[in-house]
Amino acid sequence: MTASLGAVVGYLIGSLSFAVIVSRLFGLADPRSYGSGNPGATNVLRSGHKGAAILTLLFDALKAYVPVLVARQMGLDDLTVTLVGLGAFLGHLWPVFFRFEGGKGVATAAGALLAFDPALGGLVLLVWLGVAVITRYSSLAALCASLAAPAIQFWLHGWQHQTWGVLIMSLLLIWRHEANIRKLIAGQESKIGQKSAPPS
Ligand code: G3P
Repeated sequence: MTASLGAVVGYLIGSLSFAVIVSRLFGLADPRSYGSGNPGATNVLRSGHKGAAILTLLFDALKAYVPVLVARQMGLDDLTVTLVGLGAFLGHLWPVFFRFEGGKGVATAAGALLAFDPALGGLVLLVWLGVAVITRYSSLAALCASLAAPAIQFWLHGWQHQTWGVLIMSLLLIWRHEANIRKLIAGQESKIGQKSAPPS
């Protein structure tokens, strides 16, 4: 009962699509209408408004980070804490408040992982940062971080509820990057900060 309630609360908070909300507040176009069409920080950056992109990144991460931390502070069990994070991630992918047209979940997964365990989140962020700095491809960085996350989680903690949560998030992240994978292979993927990207 507590576990399903945690998942629903996480899902509702995760359904706040900050790429769309922040863009509206700044009077920018809906990120679903340009670039990759993805409501996420990388695509908001293509609007040319760095502040809006940073706020999107921050709030999309916090919407998983804060609920997971609160669940943990409340002394809820590991399954519930995991489902709060997973719920927030699923809300970002299929937001009930935005016609279920959500993003790819990179920032939200990062927020959940950092709250699950700062060491896990920190190491996965290092993978993202390393690939992003070297290649300048946000999607490739996310894909490498998605592959690394379950391995790092397993290495740090073995099999537990959280490991399943991380694995499910990683698989969904990779699936949501299907169009990016095709563009990377075709050499058509846009680099971080590059204004245009072919629609996904
Ligand atoms: O955070 C999403 C990123 O990995 C790819 O975004 O807009 O280039 O599809 P985008």
